[in-house]
Amino acid sequence: MEGFKCIHCEKEWTKDVDYVCPSCQGNLDIVYDYSSWAKKYPRSYWKDNRDFSIWRYAPFLPVSDLTKAPRLQIGWTPLYKMENKMGSKKDNPAWGKLYLKDDGRNPSASFKDRASAVALVHAREQKASRVVGASTGNAGASMACLAASVGMPTTIFVPHTAPQAKIAQLLIFGAQVIMIEGTYDEAFDLCFQIAQEYGWYNRNTGYNPYTREGKKTCAFEICEQLDWKVPDWVFVSVGDGNIISGLWKGFQDLYQCKLIDRLPKLGSVQSTLSNAITQAVEHYLTHKKIEIRPVQARTSADSISVDMPRDGVAAVKAIVASQGQAVSVTDEEILDGMKEIAQKGGVFGEPAGVASFAGYKKLLTEGIVGKEETAVCVITGNGLKDVPSAIKAAGKPTVVPAELEKIKKYIGK
Ligand SMILES: Cc1ncc(COP(=O)(O)O)c(C=O)c1O
Ligand SMILES: [Zn+2]
Repeated sequence: MEGFKCIHCEKEWTKDVDYVCPSCQGNLDIVYDYSSWAKKYPRSYWKDNRDFSIWRYAPFLPVSDLTKAPRLQIGWTPLYKMENKMGSKKDNPAWGKLYLKDDGRNPSASFKDRASAVALVHAREQKASRVVGASTGNAGASMACLAASVGMPTTIFVPHTAPQAKIAQLLIFGAQVIMIEGTYDEAFDLCFQIAQEYGWYNRNTGYNPYTREGKKTCAFEICEQLDWKVPDWVFVSVGDGNIISGLWKGFQDLYQCKLIDRLPKLGSVQSTLSNAITQAVEHYLTHKKIEIRPVQARTSADSISVDMPRDGVAAVKAIVASQGQAVSVTDEEILDGMKEIAQKGGVFGEPAGVASFAGYKKLLTEGIVGKEETAVCVITGNGLKDVPSAIKAAGKPTVVPAELEKIKKYIGK
């Protein structure tokens, strides 16, 4: 690690900077000296590496003391190639080229564990006494889970509307829960003030540059699991924009050190009811200027319900640089996607987790994703985190009397 570069004003800083750009308060990107990487870490290095977790990529991460890493299994989640029947359109062979990356298999059942893990090691390296964070639910649950495993106290701010399962996670992992009678955006700002006043380590998405670094490990895994063949597309759902910018950072790292020879197009997927980044990309394409304007988020995909994306500039830059697409899908399309990948792929994702698939399907239908192109949809959260949405998507079961004849009659129907 060499230092930081501001994503907004592009000024470079040494390692001593805390969190954001001292000049413009913009989010920071961590800068590395790539020159030694290609020689030191060729493909053969990875083949012989027996650590199947995010820590196999430790040389590419901005932390050094791995004795401070949680012992839980984080990352190296499965990448499943879907069968042709996916999508159920006989005339659409592209469905056979779809992969699902099941990140609901992480310790707290979401992608966020990648970020929390790196932030936690950094916090411990800094001798932090407590980690604080604001969350729509998953980032907090993740932080609480990993911190619990190493005895680090946490304080988590969440909106009172967060699904019960995520609140249960916070409580069972022993976090101090501050449930805000307000939105995620309000929780974020209040958390920021408390962190400053109490001198606690702040994990907030976008604001803390270490979260993006953890998230990039998913891109490393995708490439390695595909034997270094880069997919044409990578789809992911977007709220604050930190996951998508993290994925892009990961592909950049691999490209810079010649482990891959091309870059994928990024598919950014938002709900039509929370689409500040989709709008910002459209604005950029016509005006060549990045402007992130807040929306009034109302989607029931709670994890991506964000008024003001906290890593919006990095996300827009990533989508545009990859020559990708920013697409919005309706909440109904998200629930249809949830049912389809569960019933045809055996993967159960929460609404925000499967929005990636809904966006992929939309762009495939519109012909923007070619039928011969390979695509990875990252499933960022497990479906058991939001059971009411699953029931809404799949329907309620019929109660049948405990009598053989009546059961047969029901089966006959
Ligand atoms: C399951 C899930 N998917 C996607 C996202 C979106 O990530 P980001 O806010 O970094 O865009 C989140 C964020 O909370 C999430 O929990
Ligand atoms: Zn700056």
